[in-house]
Amino acid sequence: MEAITFVLFGATGDLAKRKIYPALYNLFIDQKLPESFSVFGLGRRELSDPDFQANVEKSLRMFSRRKVIDQENLQKFIEVFRYRVLDVGHKEDYKTLLQEIEQQEQKLGTKSNRMFYLSVGPQFFGTIAANIQESGLGKTSGWKRLVIEKPFGHDLQSARELNESLSIAFKEEEIFRIDHYLGKPMVQKLEVLQNNNPVFKALWDNRYIANIQITSNETVGVEERAGYYDQAGAVRDMFQNHMLQLLMMLTTHSPNNTTNDDVREKKKIVMNSLEQLHKEDVKSSVIRGQYGAGVIDGNPVVGYTSEPNIPEDSSNDTFIAAKLKIDDYFWRGVPFYIRTGKRMKEKSTRIVIEFKEPLKKSGGTQDENKKPNLLVFEISPDERISLHLNTRDPQNKEKIKPMYIDFHETQANLPEAYENLIGDALNGDSTFFAHWEEVELSWQWVEPILEAYNENLVPLHIYAAGTNGPSASDELLAQDGYHWWFDQ
Ligand code: BG6
Repeated sequence: MEAITFVLFGATGDLAKRKIYPALYNLFIDQKLPESFSVFGLGRRELSDPDFQANVEKSLRMFSRRKVIDQENLQKFIEVFRYRVLDVGHKEDYKTLLQEIEQQEQKLGTKSNRMFYLSVGPQFFGTIAANIQESGLGKTSGWKRLVIEKPFGHDLQSARELNESLSIAFKEEEIFRIDHYLGKPMVQKLEVLQNNNPVFKALWDNRYIANIQITSNETVGVEERAGYYDQAGAVRDMFQNHMLQLLMMLTTHSPNNTTNDDVREKKKIVMNSLEQLHKEDVKSSVIRGQYGAGVIDGNPVVGYTSEPNIPEDSSNDTFIAAKLKIDDYFWRGVPFYIRTGKRMKEKSTRIVIEFKEPLKKSGGTQDENKKPNLLVFEISPDERISLHLNTRDPQNKEKIKPMYIDFHETQANLPEAYENLIGDALNGDSTFFAHWEEVELSWQWVEPILEAYNENLVPLHIYAAGTNGPSASDELLAQDGYHWWFDQ
């Protein structure tokens, strides 16, 4: 790999400590970083290089998936980290930074390839992009790339403005929008599993699939993020990005020998085929919830509106369940139920594919033990694929017995989402990043939900913390004759 300068805005922030430094370290150990790799960490407060390096080391010790940190490797890894004070609105700071980066690149005698990682609030994206452009930091003899974190806008309009401001300095193919769900190992496998296994590929449509359920539940509440979360809610925080990306990754039908562009093109097709809601009928397919007081893991917890810094009368959503329809050749008639919530019974992200029961009609065995076939992708906390089948009960030959085929991978051996994503960005592979058109189409799809919430056209259901959400979410499926699988 060619030499790379990694320029990190927000180097003293939480994300850098928890995710970015451990990811870089594990990439280094796995020999996935270039020989010549240097990091310029940027932040507002003063910090010497040795103190910065000590902070990076601390973050590895706390958050790296590799718990054993070997001193020799650590030294080699950490010596390329430098820290510079930079005020994002201060143009001079960018010029000084450019001089230092150029000196470093000249020393190495290589082409200049620069990756700018914005681990800062989105309100700074536009200013930073403009200053990168103006200062000359964006002029490289090799490539330049921009990595940004969510949230990408607050609604369709603000997302468009944000995109506009980035495009002053970066072309679409240079922008890597992180959606960390796309970095989860199981999510990265979905397309390959579907396209390389005839047993799946042959069944991947409305002839065999009855419905699909995508769940991402958490037990945590709003934590210390009241300011952000009370403006965002579950719909913006999880649904518009992670949940719709999961839907896209699962439902694309790709040719063999897929390229990045194919995957992105197919995702766009899915989003374009999604039946658009109108704000008047949002309430019949979307359930809005907010957690009340309850019990999590045996401990009492307060309701959302009693959380610190949340207004007592907040009607913000901490749960959403929605029924979606994809109106295309493959998926017409298959309901997709998607839900995500905070303060739920368990932490779990999973996809359940429920198959139809054609044998019922053609005289297959009738038995109360018989269940529909299920294909389950557990995405986190554990990674697991299981297939639920029906077999004969050896104890009672008249009876049917469920049988499970189960594949389980322990998370400890797997690279983390951020390792996958940063590694891909360093290699210029944008398959698992959100393309602007996907982001725009996702905002477009949720826009009527935002309007309906805003105008209070959808009831707000309060659910007890530590449960599976409001009962209205169960009714959403019950009216189609289904239920959420695996709710305990
Ligand atoms: C983030 C949301 O994007 O995803 C958080 O902002 C949420 O509110 C988190 O907790 C969930 O991620 P994961 O990987 O723990 O499922």
